[in-house]
Amino acid sequence: MKEKIALLNAEILSFLPKNQEHLEQFRIQFLGKKGKIQDLFADFKNVAPEFRKEIGVLLNDLKNNTQQKLDEFKDSFLSSTEERKASDLSMSADFLELGARHPLSVMRNEIISIFSRIGFVVSEGPEIEDDWHNFSALNFPPEHPARDMQDTFFIEKSLETGDIALRTHTSSVQVRMMENSKPPIRAIFPGRVFRNEAISARAHCIFHQVEGLYIDKNVSFADLKQTLLYFAKEMFGESTRIRLRPSYFPFTEPSAEMDISCSICGGKGCNICKHTGWVEILGCGMVDPNVLDNCGIDSNLYTGFAFGMGIERITMLRYGIKDLRLFFENDVRFLKQFEGAI
Ligand code: PHE
Repeated sequence: MKEKIALLNAEILSFLPKNQEHLEQFRIQFLGKKGKIQDLFADFKNVAPEFRKEIGVLLNDLKNNTQQKLDEFKDSFLSSTEERKASDLSMSADFLELGARHPLSVMRNEIISIFSRIGFVVSEGPEIEDDWHNFSALNFPPEHPARDMQDTFFIEKSLETGDIALRTHTSSVQVRMMENSKPPIRAIFPGRVFRNEAISARAHCIFHQVEGLYIDKNVSFADLKQTLLYFAKEMFGESTRIRLRPSYFPFTEPSAEMDISCSICGGKGCNICKHTGWVEILGCGMVDPNVLDNCGIDSNLYTGFAFGMGIERITMLRYGIKDLRLFFENDVRFLKQFEGAI
């Protein structure tokens, strides 16, 4: 018996399968129900009791060795292509759809990054606002036509508690910031805003703004201009020029609108700038003293500036996108072009 076991062991150890079939024959021959090892187990009852322990161990070892041999070669003759792929390191990997950031997020992040480099922190406010934060504190008198500047989606109209609406601009977050912190304040507020406007290539009822606010002692219009020039150059390139045109907002005095030299044609004149060489990108001004006082900041001690820009507009100019609706359709052919942008 011992001899038989030793012989089989030697045979198993030296066995080298040529292919899957050969390996399977080996399995049947040794481990099969009528295989050689099973035969030996059948003979075991004839072993004298004093040898049983020793032979039992040898038999079990033999069986384990055989199984080990099978396991060792099992993976080397994989049949299906799937399995072959898994072990073939030279095959190219399957294509993975990774997804990409939305261009508006890319631009928002870039605007935040530009202002954070000169010390502006980021804050946010609610999209559903009360009349005070969206209008009254910002110097829009009741029933004043200035309120019609922005067509509002009202959620609740109430004379007692005041109206509740979707915010029409991120200037509402200026108010919250001033109410809740003491100067110096240097912050930007990115967020969604809502206006009851017909959807077209140039307007949408939902869009995105970034608001900026800077309050301290001795803040001047020159500070505002220099901050915006820095932003324009960082966003649209070193050669970008800016111009400020007088304008009107109830919450700033004086107020202005800022144009940049057209980033598409470099100022020579094209369709985007309507052949003027300039495109408007934001509204700004010195915070009206009434607004400071409304928000608990002493207008005799402090001055400040504010500005607000539409992220859609900035993104359209940066990438030469002509129709604003593309941002909201989520057509992957459009979105794919921004893969890799962060
Ligand atoms: N809130 C203004 C708008 O939505 C923009 C603005 C912000 C103007 C801050 C001046 C100061 O058009």
